[in-house]
Amino acid sequence: MNTLTIDIRKAEPRDASAIAEVHQQAWRGAYSGIIPHRTLTSMINRRGVDWWANAIRRAATVLVVEIGGTVAGYATIGKNRARELRQQGEIYELYLRPEYQGIGLGSRLFKAAKARLADHGLRGLVVWALEDNHNALAFYAGNGGRDIAEGVEVFEQRALKKVAFVWND
Ligand SMILES: CC(C)(COP(=O)(O)OP(=O)(O)OC[C@H]1O[C@@H](n2cnc3c(N)ncnc32)[C@H](O)[C@@H]1OP(=O)(O)O)[C@@H](O)C(=O)NCCC(=O)NCCS
Repeated sequence: MNTLTIDIRKAEPRDASAIAEVHQQAWRGAYSGIIPHRTLTSMINRRGVDWWANAIRRAATVLVVEIGGTVAGYATIGKNRARELRQQGEIYELYLRPEYQGIGLGSRLFKAAKARLADHGLRGLVVWALEDNHNALAFYAGNGGRDIAEGVEVFEQRALKKVAFVWND
């Protein structure tokens, strides 16, 4: 029997191309038909390998979940950006390659991200998801999030609603 090792760790510069690939595939899968095509394509193209290498070196923390040596997903985490919400931590993004979705890796990555924010001394956590992204809403509700606020994100003149899920310590 083969045993696949699952590892969640901080991303390193060598992960940039795998993360760029995950980003492209997951965003196409999640947002085609929701975010206008042209906008989605340019959002994806902006985040190539160099963009990710740079993000890993300097920005907020990027985590990856690796299974059997393949980077299956990533999360980016840091301080909450919405001043009207009192939670201190935020998961900015959490995405898996389509073929690795639905087998529990997202929940593991979510828990690791939450624990890491707490280790950094940030109390409480917020995550935003587009209201039309039903999988994401089910996922965050299933992981114990409470949806407490709404906002709007404008893509090429199309206003899309987004929902904030929160967890208090
Ligand atoms: C959303 C996402 C991170 C969830 O991770 P995952 O590994 O697929 O989810 P898990 O296998 O850990 O599932 C946990 C729960 O989420 C929900 N869920 C996950 N995938 C789902 C799907 N395709 N449809 C409906 N609910 C789903 C279920 O409630 C599931 O609970 P269960 O185990 O009792 O069935 C992942 O599917 C993904 O990357 N999707 C595309 C990108 C995206 O939408 N990211 C979030 C942006 S805010």
